[in-house]
Amino acid sequence: MSPLGWDTAADLEKPPAEIPSPGEVDVPEGLRAEIEAHMANYPDRRSAALPALAAAQREHGWCSPQAIAQVAAVMRVTPAYLESVASFYDMLETEPVGRHSVYVCTNISCSLRGADALLADFQRAVDGDPEVNVRAFECLGACDIAPMASVDGVYVGPLSSQDIPALLDDVRAGRAVLPERQLARRLVADPHANSTEFPQHPAQGAAHGGANLELPTEDPATARGRREPR
Ligand code: FES
Repeated sequence: MSPLGWDTAADLEKPPAEIPSPGEVDVPEGLRAEIEAHMANYPDRRSAALPALAAAQREHGWCSPQAIAQVAAVMRVTPAYLESVASFYDMLETEPVGRHSVYVCTNISCSLRGADALLADFQRAVDGDPEVNVRAFECLGACDIAPMASVDGVYVGPLSSQDIPALLDDVRAGRAVLPERQLARRLVADPHANSTEFPQHPAQGAAHGGANLELPTEDPATARGRREPR
């Protein structure tokens, strides 16, 4: 038998997994509404598993058994289904972690520009702070601002170790993180693209434990009132 038990036959005598009864699980109203809104976006409600789990993670800090039970009760799926999704995706946490996430990219471009030392300095700087989850991450797709990090879902770079104290101050105070280093605020050739001026995204600074997959919802050009008709 393999140590993982993959060659063990399924136990067909086991009782089927149960979907939690909505009456048995208390679900915060805001979380319920968000999950239902995600479900309404898809013909198959199970397609909403990722955003629903991300919402529960923002609520609870991680995909705890309680968070999983709440999502399962609203989505009418088994907790086992959601656990299988949560354990597969890297940005869904299945163990308690800090509510703020700092993902330091250590892939090749960032590594060549000092990401490994940057990661070590971040880890030293947050040592003992259970609210900040610092970890290495593979290429985050922003190699042009290497070395960079995703801080509560906001891309910032290029970073040096000297930036760490100010960055962590911003995170802990719930402020926009190093605004002048944010990728979304770097001006590019397309005048309708990024802006230095768009308002802080509502999720930024909120507790979400590292699964903020969203970009600013307000179009930057619209926000500053200069989108021209094409
Ligand atoms: S190598 Fe760091 S963003 Fe690509």
